Amino acid sequence: MAKTWDIEKFKKTARAAAAEGIVLLKNDKNALPLDKGTKLAIFGRSQMNYYKSGTGSGGMVNVDYVVGIYEALKDSKKYKINTDVRKAYEEFVKENPFDTGVGWAAEPWFQKEMPLTDAFAKKAAEESEVAIFIIGRTAGEDQDTKNEPGSYLLTDEETDALKKVRKAFGKVIVLLNVGNIIDMKWVKEIDPEAVLYVWQGGQEGGNAVLDVLSGDVNPSGKLADTIAENITDYSSTENFGSDKRNFQEEDIYVGYRYFETFDKKSVLYPFGYGLSYTNFDIALGEFEYDETDGISLEVLVTNTGDRAGKEAVQVYFEAPQGLLGKPKRALCGFAKTDLLEPGQMQCLEFDIPKYWLASYDDSGVTKHKSSYVLEEGCYKVFAGSDVRSAAEIGEFEIKKLEVITECEEAYAPVKEFERLKPDSTQMEEAVSKAANDDFIYGKTSEKVPVRTLDPNKKRKDRLPECVPFTGDKGYKLKDVEAGKVSMEKFIAQLSDEDLITMMRGEGMCSPKVTAGIAGAFGGVTDSLADFGIPVGGCSDGPSGIRMDCGTHAFSLPNGTCLACTFNEELNEELFRWEALDLRRNRIDALLGPGMNIHRSPLNGRNFEYFSEDPLLTGKLVSAQLKGLHKYDVTGVIKHFAGNTQEFRRHFVDNVVSERALREIYLKAFEIAVREGEARAVMSTYGPVNGVWTSSSYDLLTTILRGEWGFTGIVMTDWWAMGNDEAGAHGDYQNVSAQVRAQNDLNMVNASAADNSSGDDLPKALKEGKLTRAELARCATNICEFLLKTPAYRHMLGEESALDKELAKAMSEDDAKLQDLIKLTLNEGETELDTSLIDVQKGATTAFVVTSKRKCLMDMELVLRADNQPDVAQLPLSIFQDKMLIKTVTLTGMDKEWQTVRIGMNPAIMSNFYLKFYFAQGGLEIKSVKIIKTKDLEEEFKRGISEL
Ligand code: BGC
Repeated sequence: MAKTWDIEKFKKTARAAAAEGIVLLKNDKNALPLDKGTKLAIFGRSQMNYYKSGTGSGGMVNVDYVVGIYEALKDSKKYKINTDVRKAYEEFVKENPFDTGVGWAAEPWFQKEMPLTDAFAKKAAEESEVAIFIIGRTAGEDQDTKNEPGSYLLTDEETDALKKVRKAFGKVIVLLNVGNIIDMKWVKEIDPEAVLYVWQGGQEGGNAVLDVLSGDVNPSGKLADTIAENITDYSSTENFGSDKRNFQEEDIYVGYRYFETFDKKSVLYPFGYGLSYTNFDIALGEFEYDETDGISLEVLVTNTGDRAGKEAVQVYFEAPQGLLGKPKRALCGFAKTDLLEPGQMQCLEFDIPKYWLASYDDSGVTKHKSSYVLEEGCYKVFAGSDVRSAAEIGEFEIKKLEVITECEEAYAPVKEFERLKPDSTQMEEAVSKAANDDFIYGKTSEKVPVRTLDPNKKRKDRLPECVPFTGDKGYKLKDVEAGKVSMEKFIAQLSDEDLITMMRGEGMCSPKVTAGIAGAFGGVTDSLADFGIPVGGCSDGPSGIRMDCGTHAFSLPNGTCLACTFNEELNEELFRWEALDLRRNRIDALLGPGMNIHRSPLNGRNFEYFSEDPLLTGKLVSAQLKGLHKYDVTGVIKHFAGNTQEFRRHFVDNVVSERALREIYLKAFEIAVREGEARAVMSTYGPVNGVWTSSSYDLLTTILRGEWGFTGIVMTDWWAMGNDEAGAHGDYQNVSAQVRAQNDLNMVNASAADNSSGDDLPKALKEGKLTRAELARCATNICEFLLKTPAYRHMLGEESALDKELAKAMSEDDAKLQDLIKLTLNEGETELDTSLIDVQKGATTAFVVTSKRKCLMDMELVLRADNQPDVAQLPLSIFQDKMLIKTVTLTGMDKEWQTVRIGMNPAIMSNFYLKFYFAQGGLEIKSVKIIKTKDLEEEFKRGISEL
């Protein structure tokens, strides 16, 4: 029987996706592709440390292997690689090893570059024909990219080395192994023949680079962001990076929407840009406007060159300025051709509903406040291979303003500020100059409309009702599925206490789910489990499964790379494989894709996110969700919404107009809900318009569920605050505000039953600040979600043929890690059952330890040599999580019991792993104790409140 899981096909798809994401920016004199047998000299320190992804939750995938760029080129045997140059780098890294930094998110974003001399470069050029120079950057959580060398800018050492290579070689190819766009001014100065963004391509990334350099794959990636000359050219820069509040004055004019409208000349490479080894002719076919259905059009793409290739066609529109003001271009459709042979033509068809062309009136200036409208005037539609060169394909006229959808004011700012707008006094001039592509608008500004509807009042006016508490009637969750009882009546059986505990997700690394994953939710207490509620498991993240106990998974290309493919089908296919990896590891939901808008090139997490454009992001995320849903798992789309900055991400308030929210920052999520049928959402850490997103009734109830029809679950980011009202301070204990808003799950708690985080749910319920019906509503969302999960089917004892096949596909080591011994720490001392510890040579025994309180600990072991010759060396290595905390070595002479006490790392997370590894046999263990030496709970609470 044909197998469903095929790791070789997964690798192939990932390699193809990483290759399709590569963007060729420059290819003078047809420097690429490289002829077989070319003599290559590979420069740049990053050849020693290929970045498969960024750091943090979006990158911590334990993998079987990573193919770097150097390794791929070498192993292909297609090229003659200069070994002297390579050796120099090998020597350099011995003296300058990879700097990992210390602690969470501390890895520097660049590694020291090797200085070159002219003589070295000259000698290399005498021996080799082409120089490849690799520049690398990582990125991650909790900090942003800075407009500094080693971050957004090249370091002096990098520039200097590049210059020397340039001087010596006739052909220089620069590869950017980076998470997101970086400063590109150096291209003009250094003038290499070819420049490629190869991004962070996952574990198959190096192979993808090989494919493009060799021409086995013709590049077809397109920029998902505008590259401007200076960071100061971006409209967001002025209001980015504050430690308190960023007023998003640029409003909807983000990325190319800004540059095409106000500042064309500062663009180095426009949105959508990317070269191929062949040429395409893009001809505009039929164009039709229908009053009901919107526009439909055809674009004919012909490969006019001499190599097979793919082209990504983009459709943009320009709406009349009207009263609202509009960007000169906005993407409303895109599609990728098949692989076209030379001379082959393909007709791409686009159907674009009017909703995509509409603007949101947040002020009422059109007399239709809180509605999506098409203002009267001429609408122009453009198609082409990037935003700048897209040519007009058709136009249509709206004679009288049309209201497309009426909404309700929601999540508007309370603070007053001014926003950017095209200067309407230039309107006439604009019309007459419309044919002139170089026309740009002057800037003016207007007051941003502030909130007029109080979300707390909305909530009180719209309180849900529920079936009153009935006590246990003997119904299990499966009776809901079987239609024996309604969900309302099922939930009515749960006590207040049960409902409250269900809102508390557990983690990290809960022993109730797959080892090493971030969260567990649903039936996390015995009482909930008795009702037949399964425990769902979720794990990071966008680039593949993160399991902190060391289990291996497959690592994917990063979000920006996948965005640059402009290929929905490929994204869907890749995530079908990812779904199987999740199923194999018994995980129900991936904490990703990350889909915030690249408001600024400096956001530290841009590498996980897709693009500056919401349509591109939303469509590709929808494709990924469809792939995941094929095998009944899902993605937790994050971070909802407006996480545009990592610095002080728990606190910084993003102040943004309702129009920009809806047209830019929420739009991609809206598409993922409406088209991708998203089932799970993660709110952000921080506030938007003064209200923490996790507790925003407007965001999570009015818009997400009310307007878009979302019926899934919303969870907080890991340890997130809530607040009651715009401007009120955020509080980790204020979980009742989250539940009131329909943020169903507070992530994560050490123990739901013990209220280990000290949340206010019981108190709020007692004081009437929260109703039982509100709790029941979240419980319903969670149970409805769980009914669709593999966890539910497993709880029922069902094992499909796919489950059986996937279980066999686990390596023995990884399978063992799923079989951990569970242990909960007592106050004082806790004894480990030593009979469970395998002391044979090469044996590993792993425990998952739950500590309900944060504390300092020691371990005390009593052990001796078991009848060994005196000279025997008997090492025992003890790991806490993935870190070696001590290797205890006895010798054969230690025939009496020895007591060894070692310091452990503090228990900060609720769960950790303990691993005992015996490199030799011959030790006997009498006892192992974990001794709690200091409680840290209070210190932590103080620390957090001081933040
Ligand atoms: C990140 C999330 C992630 C979570 C769990 C947080 O720090 O912001 O994106 O899913 O941790 O690891």
